[in-house]
Amino acid sequence: MRYIKIFDTTLRDGEQSPGASMNVEEKIQVAKQLVRLGVDYIEAGFPITSEGDFEAVKRIANEVHGAGIVGLARAKEEDIKRAYEAVRDAPMKRIHTFHSTSDIHLKYQYRISRGEALKRSVEMVKFARSLVEDVEFSPMDATRTDVTYLLEVIEAVIEAGATTVNIPDTVGYITPYEFGNLIRTIKEKIGDKATISVHCHNDLGLAVANSLAAIVNGAGQVECTINGIGERAGNCSMEEVVMNLKTRKDFYNAETRINTKEIIRTSRLVTRITGIPVQPNKAIVGANAFAHESGIHQDGLLKEKMTYEIIRPEDIGLQKTELVLGKHSGRHAFKTRLRELGYNLSPEEIEIAFKRFKHLADQKKQIFDEDIELLISTEIIKTKEIYKLVDMSVTCGINVKPKASVKLKVDNEIIEAVDTGDGPVDATYKAIATITRTKSKLLKFEVKGITGGTDALGEVTVTLEEDGKKVRGLGADTDIIVASAKAYVNALNKLHNIINRAIYP
Ligand code: KIV
Ligand code: ZN
Repeated sequence: MRYIKIFDTTLRDGEQSPGASMNVEEKIQVAKQLVRLGVDYIEAGFPITSEGDFEAVKRIANEVHGAGIVGLARAKEEDIKRAYEAVRDAPMKRIHTFHSTSDIHLKYQYRISRGEALKRSVEMVKFARSLVEDVEFSPMDATRTDVTYLLEVIEAVIEAGATTVNIPDTVGYITPYEFGNLIRTIKEKIGDKATISVHCHNDLGLAVANSLAAIVNGAGQVECTINGIGERAGNCSMEEVVMNLKTRKDFYNAETRINTKEIIRTSRLVTRITGIPVQPNKAIVGANAFAHESGIHQDGLLKEKMTYEIIRPEDIGLQKTELVLGKHSGRHAFKTRLRELGYNLSPEEIEIAFKRFKHLADQKKQIFDEDIELLISTEIIKTKEIYKLVDMSVTCGINVKPKASVKLKVDNEIIEAVDTGDGPVDATYKAIATITRTKSKLLKFEVKGITGGTDALGEVTVTLEEDGKKVRGLGADTDIIVASAKAYVNALNKLHNIINRAIYP
């Protein structure tokens, strides 16, 4: 059985999805969950691009152990030095450096010859190797690169010290048949001198198929993201590749060390943190992935699961708990449930979470796993808060003009504003905008009910834009107007952290 390394790039390429930016604390939460999931490598960021990215990679390198930590760098000395500084303290570290190789990129973007690109790539791999043992090189836009030249670059960078060569389908252009052939050609040329990795984008919906074709033909590492998030149409989806290998072991004869029972939890965490929802019909982690609607299928399933079920929901961690918590549940039951759900919280965090849980249990009869997960992601995994919602009240009805009064704590000062609007949410948002003097534009407002019943938690996601930066804010409450206010304040805090501007713009 061949072993396939899983290289997760949710925190780097995944974060390049529009609006998916995560703060440092959120990245650490995701990285810790990726370790629980069992990935081999975490590409934690692109350190030269910003102070925030540098700090995130550095903190992950220091605080998250159990996977190799990777920093991305262009084939430039300053990038590589910065990536090295960021990953230096990790027990297992890797520098991933890249240079375009396709004529299209070399001619129009870099304006250099093939020879010059080859020389830079070799020099920079040597430089990276002088700093760390583990160096990955990517010939960017490899799938639109002349194959003879691509092979020349690959052999040269291996000679220079690259331990992994990653073949990116940067624009999601290639077909599985062609990609399989390309990987076989590379494998025949380099044998076991370096690991062949693949990095597929999903522009034509083929990222997973291409990655699997590459595995069949000799790739030993797959680069992917949770939920397939990433630039444009996204990257290869980790859960799909992993579950293909597991479900069709008979065909691939290859395995990963992913603990598939952590898949759904990781997927939900990434959704919550990035605010990017998973489409209901998405393979493996979509809400309908295991929902059988047709009578014939249901009949078959009741008789024997094998009739229509190729993956057991439990295998990805979808387990309906017998134990539903409620207002009489004590600290011990709550702590046990948190542990079962995979949360590793500090005693202080447990205390905060328990108080919130009790408050929620006063409003809502039964607390399900989804409620707890939402509570943790909105109350514990926090954005650094400059604005805090202290209180609010709203009047609305059929014959009254909706009016909202909102109190926010802004950098230790309580500020109140009252405003009217076209509806209770509009009035609330106007009052918050008055207090924060935000210049951001509201791009999207989404409301969703978590679990059933009129006492269900409502989850609101808002997307804001300012200075070309997009963020998503999340808020949850049994009161949908309060959830809306929380989501708006959360998004404003994220914007504040990204833009790093004065409290008042
Ligand atoms: O898609 C791509 O080519 C990349 C490289 C940096 C590997 O993300
Ligand atoms: Zn990419």
